[in-house]
Amino acid sequence: MSVHRKDIKLITTHQLQAMKERGEKISMLTAYDFSMASILDGAGIDVLLVGDSASNVMAGHTTTLPITLDQMIYHASSVIRAVKRAFVVVDLPFGSYQGNSSEALRSAIRIMKESGAHGIKLEGGSEIKDSVIRILSAGVPVMGHLGLTPQSIYKFGTYTVRAKEEQEAKKLLEDALLLEEIGCFALVLEKIPSELARQVAEGLRIPVIGIGAGPAVDGQVLVTHDLLGITKEFKPRFLRRYADLNDTMTKAVSEYITDVKSRDFPSLEEAY
Ligand code: KIV
Repeated sequence: MSVHRKDIKLITTHQLQAMKERGEKISMLTAYDFSMASILDGAGIDVLLVGDSASNVMAGHTTTLPITLDQMIYHASSVIRAVKRAFVVVDLPFGSYQGNSSEALRSAIRIMKESGAHGIKLEGGSEIKDSVIRILSAGVPVMGHLGLTPQSIYKFGTYTVRAKEEQEAKKLLEDALLLEEIGCFALVLEKIPSELARQVAEGLRIPVIGIGAGPAVDGQVLVTHDLLGITKEFKPRFLRRYADLNDTMTKAVSEYITDVKSRDFPSLEEAY
């Protein structure tokens, strides 16, 4: 079933499921604002993630922990206003769902109601089971997130590859099965060994989207600012840069400064 908005068809969870079933890879990128979301949606991206990585990329924090629910709603509303086709998922920020399923439901409903998003994502497995069940019971599509879960950075202590040891890999497999069983429509796996990601993707019916999880999953997600080379210092092995916009933008701005200082800009043709 497709959801129609005017004459434009939005991607649905059913279509994402069908893509997995026919072996078509799912493309997913982050977006936090109207202009970028318009470009990504126009280019044909399948899923846009209003990630809590906005905390790093947009606000300059060193972790995802400080971003608030109100700030996530602001970013999500801006993205939603731009989107004609993509399925838009919004991260529930740290502290808005852990440990209290009523609060989790309230947070998810605020995001859906106030931003118009199509689904939410949260980090963790069995520890957040009650919150996931409660949100799903309200008809809100939920995407899981396992492996490296940046909201737990102070527990892990580093951003290195997760689930390399047998015990952690076993828990990740169990959590993935649990999230599917309770009704999540998709799962993100971040920074885990490719072989483990392959086992999860093959063992689940729902789409599994990887970031640093190798090729044997059902789709890929990256942070758009990393892919476009706007952020420069972040160079993990899994990142492929498709442009060097930091250099391009710096050059353009330098030229503008030179033109202003030299009085070359504005010319008579650029004035009224
Ligand atoms: O917040 C985010 O950008 C994410 C992706 C890295 C999957 O969760």
